[in-house]
Amino acid sequence: MDNEDTVKLIRSKTDIVDIVGERIPLISRGKNYFGLCPFHDDDNPSLCVSREKQIYTCFSCHATGNVFTFLMNYEHKDFYDVLKYLGEKTGVEVRGRKRGTSNTKYIDYYNAYEFSSNYFQNNLHTKIGAEARNYLKSRGLDEKVIKDFKIGLSLENNDDLTKLLTKKGFELSNLNNWGLSVNDYDIYKDRIMFPLFDITGKTIGFSGRIYKDSDQNKYLNTRETVVFKKGLILYNYHRAVEEVRKMHYVIVMEGFMDVIRASTIGFNNAVALMGTALTHEQIKLLKRLSNNIILCLDGDNPGKKASLTNGELLLKEKVEVKVISLPKDDDPDTYILNHDQKSFQNLIDNAMLYSDYKMKYLKENTNFQSVEEKTEYINAILKEISLLKDEIRIQIMLEKLAKEVEIGYNTLEKRFKSMKKIKPEQVVKFGPKKKKYKDKYQKAIEQLIYSMLTEENIILKVEKEKLIFPEELQRLIINEICYYYKKYGTISIADFCTYIRDKKELVEFLNDILVSDYQEEITSEELQEYFDVIRENAKNLEIKRLAKKLEEIPDPLEQAKISEKIRKLRIGEV
Ligand code: CTP
Ligand code: MN
Repeated sequence: MDNEDTVKLIRSKTDIVDIVGERIPLISRGKNYFGLCPFHDDDNPSLCVSREKQIYTCFSCHATGNVFTFLMNYEHKDFYDVLKYLGEKTGVEVRGRKRGTSNTKYIDYYNAYEFSSNYFQNNLHTKIGAEARNYLKSRGLDEKVIKDFKIGLSLENNDDLTKLLTKKGFELSNLNNWGLSVNDYDIYKDRIMFPLFDITGKTIGFSGRIYKDSDQNKYLNTRETVVFKKGLILYNYHRAVEEVRKMHYVIVMEGFMDVIRASTIGFNNAVALMGTALTHEQIKLLKRLSNNIILCLDGDNPGKKASLTNGELLLKEKVEVKVISLPKDDDPDTYILNHDQKSFQNLIDNAMLYSDYKMKYLKENTNFQSVEEKTEYINAILKEISLLKDEIRIQIMLEKLAKEVEIGYNTLEKRFKSMKKIKPEQVVKFGPKKKKYKDKYQKAIEQLIYSMLTEENIILKVEKEKLIFPEELQRLIINEICYYYKKYGTISIADFCTYIRDKKELVEFLNDILVSDYQEEITSEELQEYFDVIRENAKNLEIKRLAKKLEEIPDPLEQAKISEKIRKLRIGEV
């Protein structure tokens, strides 16, 4: 079986609706399935998945493709990894080596980090690592956890790693730029080393923690590099992906120690922010994991405030946010240590809806003796209530508030209604892409291409017509379609997508056609009309070309010949 056959076999054994549906809730409507598009900030289902055609298309951001491209984009994997994954799922063996991927750009960077990580891990298990091992043990981290999270140790000697890396052929200037060395020295000295992974699980940075008495900073992190950007990653994302899928929610914590601890009691669906406020990129990643997010930040005041601000950000993105309030001296790490799995599960089960959390927070932080603070409180709560969608819940909340602040229900309701009226429209940050203008000729050609892919018999009819297509991309794609059909005797959009996957321009051109709402089926009359329109277009273009030539050519005899040609074209004699 050649490579392309394997690809086709795996594709045919896979149902895109299942694969997408395992990751994004889909609802069926007519022949198709719809869900929130994971490739843009979607708040109303614009992703359409077709079982019949085995492709997906987003009407808003115009993302499109087949099951392979979906997984590549959704899980940030390359084609080969997706093929292997689906191969395993469908029981088809994928042979051959991985082809070069786009990540080769930073391959040296990844290699240097991988090497360093192995080196640190090894150190921890040598004699010199005894004290560090004891430290980890005292924190209740066993061998399995150490291995799972690739925890290691940097040594006191301050140039060991730098020497090793330069000996391996890495240039010092690179090591400096990549945050592994300063001049001839190692950056990390005598610290417990926690690798920081990118979303695919590659080590791209480190956080080193002191483990002896020391007046140095508790944690030392890799500075921002070309690859390592704290705001673009979530600690443990790559491990959480599968687990979140099973558990249907993701827990967000502050520190990686919290996440590591959670894993020891079976919660592998947690990720850590590592001391930053949620960035837009991280929110996107979270949305990709799940629409159910539980914030479980530290119990102290900064943690409470962070729950508030992060919750607000997430709510704006239309995800379901819940909040856990830990005792004020706890973070998830210490809470779990001092309690047990059941207690933590209990916290999860009883996590508060963000709106409730916010109201509780406001209440606790208002001095009701002060008229100003009380008024501010009432306005803030009314604003919160105005964000709710459930009318019954709104009514209950208003009644509760009226009792609480001892104000007549009608007065509150009146205020509430006037507030709702001036509520500004939600700002659309990522609006739908504008459709490019296409004239009727272009539309006819694209419809024809689309029809060739959905109704095979049209391929032969098109070949017979000997049409002239003005644009190179049009010619190329039509050639590819004809070639593919001849070779395999059959064609489908989903397979063809994969077949042309390496030809970026063709992929873009095809994608544009797929999202443009062309007719599913055309009658033979319509087909004939398209042929006519395409011919007319070719004729017009030829006339234009000749007219231009006419202006440029000085020879009167030549001019006369061209004029005659144009005339004949116009009256349809050629
Ligand atoms: N952090 C950091 N630099 C610091 C302190 C914290 O980068 N000096 C980041 C780390 O990524 C850490 C997160 O902020 O994971 C949370 O900090 P903190 O709550 O202080 O760390 P803990 O998770 O409590 O770590 P430990 O239990 O080991 O003290
Ligand atoms: Mn801690």
